[in-house]
Amino acid sequence: AVALPVERTVSGLSVLTSRIAESALPAPFTTGFAVPPIIRPVRSDATTDYYRVSMERTSAEIVPGLRTEMWGYNGVVPGPTFVVPQGRKVMVRHVNNLPPAHPVLRYAPWTSVHLHGSASLPQYDGYASDITNPGQYKDYRYPNYQPARTLWYHDHGLHHTAENVFMGLAGMYTMTDPLERSLPIPHGEYDVPLIVSDTMLNSDGSLLFTTNDESGFYGDVILVNGRPWPAMRVARRKYRFRILNASISRSYNWSLSTGDRMAVIATDAGLMTGPQYVSNFRHGVAERYEVVIDFAKYRAGQRVVLRSGSPKNNIGFTHTNKVMAFDVTDDGFDNADNDVPSSLNPLQPTMALAESAAVATRRLDFGRSNGRWTINGTTWDDVVRSRFTKVLAAPKIDDVEIWELRNLSGGWNHPAHIHFIDFRILSRNGRPALPHERGAKDVVYLGENESVRVLIKFDQGRGKYMIHCHNLVHEDHDMMAQFEIRDPDVGVSDPMGTPASW
Ligand code: C2O
Ligand code: CU
Repeated sequence: AVALPVERTVSGLSVLTSRIAESALPAPFTTGFAVPPIIRPVRSDATTDYYRVSMERTSAEIVPGLRTEMWGYNGVVPGPTFVVPQGRKVMVRHVNNLPPAHPVLRYAPWTSVHLHGSASLPQYDGYASDITNPGQYKDYRYPNYQPARTLWYHDHGLHHTAENVFMGLAGMYTMTDPLERSLPIPHGEYDVPLIVSDTMLNSDGSLLFTTNDESGFYGDVILVNGRPWPAMRVARRKYRFRILNASISRSYNWSLSTGDRMAVIATDAGLMTGPQYVSNFRHGVAERYEVVIDFAKYRAGQRVVLRSGSPKNNIGFTHTNKVMAFDVTDDGFDNADNDVPSSLNPLQPTMALAESAAVATRRLDFGRSNGRWTINGTTWDDVVRSRFTKVLAAPKIDDVEIWELRNLSGGWNHPAHIHFIDFRILSRNGRPALPHERGAKDVVYLGENESVRVLIKFDQGRGKYMIHCHNLVHEDHDMMAQFEIRDPDVGVSDPMGTPASW
């Protein structure tokens, strides 16, 4: 029997009482696995690949026989995957072709597209207030000079990011580089995106959204690449999975049903210096972890389940903590007994930063006051009211700083994200970072009462960038602020950021 949660307010798409019955959903591992298509440029020149993406209404079939209206980049959910070599510039024309009115959502779906993990300059950063209304477009430019990594693009529209992402506006963007391509880790068809999100449906198949009193959205149907609890056929060999937590609020704690360890080889900002072997790890919203799982040791016919033990905030169905299955086949046996190389990226620049190089230490407190989620007491509305002059920090270009991120909000967690830069975790609650997060990152999970010190170098990119909680409901209500990278030789930048040369 499913106990329906008691809800007072529903800000989004429908009311909880019409939630679909568990028995109407596909049973776990009865749905096939699929990966999003790879997008191709519409044109290329010597330095740049040009893409065009249309945000549009689409209809998905999450439950067989029921149509679910969603919004997709190019009409697919998750959006098409970009695969980009380091050093090639990318321009994406994002056209907002969303319907100007939605029968249930009570806003015109303005958008702002953020390439999460990119050092893109302020004007192309997906700034929340830099919105594009239905019928308009914006050209986003990405320099792609960073080390190889798994990025993702998702909506960031002011005060409606949670709904826009919930409706389907998220996709993966992978950047490769010569080091990544040369390593003996799985590539090509064995390098597989796993975009994990959670959703909730009405009995007619339509999406059901609630912010649970602005605390978060916790869906009970777990999707991998848009499919509910899929089963993937795997050969007896190693696979590399790029796991992106694209959920609105839910975090996961991964483990395999066999209890076997996984090799974590990359964090948000790319390859770790060496792999970390873990049998489970916590994965907060917006974080990316690349893991290698070796299926060579299993027998054909065996099923290995990727599951998540995160009882917290589960208002879910009995299957919420199952995520997907790997069904081992006897194809492509690969008895490679060599392990993932013990050294992957020894010169990783962010990991090589010395703490002693820091010229300042700042504190950013994630809290709650007067019914709003705040950072150092500030909300995004405060930033807007200040005409974008209010900044929480103004580091000088090329400086290294320590930021201490503290969760002072009581029984909540906050995946804290800093735009534009990569950081490394110096300590978590005075202790070393957890094994799986010992790599360069751009989001860090702040559990209850946790405090995390991170080391950041503010190289390049004069201008203003956001810092926010990536629980998108917190972000919309209004846990977001900005910092400014200043160049003393140039002076103060414009409120919305000055585009540097492209
Ligand atoms: Cu993934 Cu400011 O966002
Ligand atoms: Cu939060």
